[in-house]
Amino acid sequence: MERIGVVGCGLMGAGIAEVAARAGIEVTVIEQNTDALNAGRDRVEKSLTRAQASGKLSDQEASLAREHLRFSEKFRDLADVQFAIEAVSERESVKLEVFKTLDAVVQDPSAILATNTSSIPIIKLAMATRRPEQVIGMHFFNPVPVLKLVEVISSLLTSPETTARVNEFASGPLQKKVITSPDRAGFVVNALLIPYLLSAIRMLESGFASAEDIDTGMVMGCAHPLGPLALTDLIGLDTTLAVADSLYEEFKEPHLAPPPLLSRMTQAGLLGRKSGQGFYSYKK
Ligand SMILES: NC(=O)c1ccc[n+]([C@@H]2O[C@H](COP(=O)([O-])OP(=O)(O)OC[C@H]3O[C@@H](n4cnc5c(N)ncnc54)[C@H](O)[C@@H]3O)[C@@H](O)[C@H]2O)c1
Repeated sequence: MERIGVVGCGLMGAGIAEVAARAGIEVTVIEQNTDALNAGRDRVEKSLTRAQASGKLSDQEASLAREHLRFSEKFRDLADVQFAIEAVSERESVKLEVFKTLDAVVQDPSAILATNTSSIPIIKLAMATRRPEQVIGMHFFNPVPVLKLVEVISSLLTSPETTARVNEFASGPLQKKVITSPDRAGFVVNALLIPYLLSAIRMLESGFASAEDIDTGMVMGCAHPLGPLALTDLIGLDTTLAVADSLYEEFKEPHLAPPPLLSRMTQAGLLGRKSGQGFYSYKK
């Protein structure tokens, strides 16, 4: 993969674009409008600067990464990519539209179209294209430049060749550890993680314990790097809700149903770190 596209430059898209550019791959990033594009570019730039400041990236490596990044609002700039990954907001209708567009604009008939979705079945997105055997899930973790894991999710129609190429891409140039998941809600990690986060929100909602005590309990008692409520703030309450909804829809088990507090906070725009307020305040 020498030229790739990343669609959506929020929390995840920015991280994926950065990691690929640092690996010497030509990356074209697509955003939906100029404001979002500028915000995405700033996000990547800040992360590169942070990595430089902390000594994780030399000045030369950082300039090389910058040279490998292009930003655009036009999907047609992805015409010549060999691989495109979608990391737009977790809304099915938006993602379906993005996949239809990618299928139309990406010219290489062997190009792979991947999604970073946390909750939408890969097969649904694959069926929006004329190349379902080349559509695959590639689920990165936040922050992408730091966390080494990628879940690779093949749908019922993904070809073994596509899966092999993506495994090679992730573990080779991107230097990620790959685990394989079936095309089931939550994949491997969120199927385990989300019920735990929902339990913590229910504990808070019922007055069982304070947010600080819940998080301190898991950090100091179980050596987790973050407590469950701080982690929900990091993931984003909207994303957590979307994954919980998809898990509940798929398995219909009561412990997977999102607690009302999570829904109400999401409706109120209290989305965690990205909005400045979630279970904790991040306002400067
Ligand atoms: N946040 C996490 O921890 C996490 C982890 C793994 C996977 N994911 C998944 O990654 C995806 C992105 O999540 P995020 O947290 O980066 O969200 P985000 O809200 O930070 O970013 C989404 C970006 O997509 C852009 N966008 C929306 N519609 C678009 C379109 N039609 N064309 C181009 N750009 C468009 C938005 O402007 C925004 O910048 C979601 O599918 C989410 O489920 C998130």
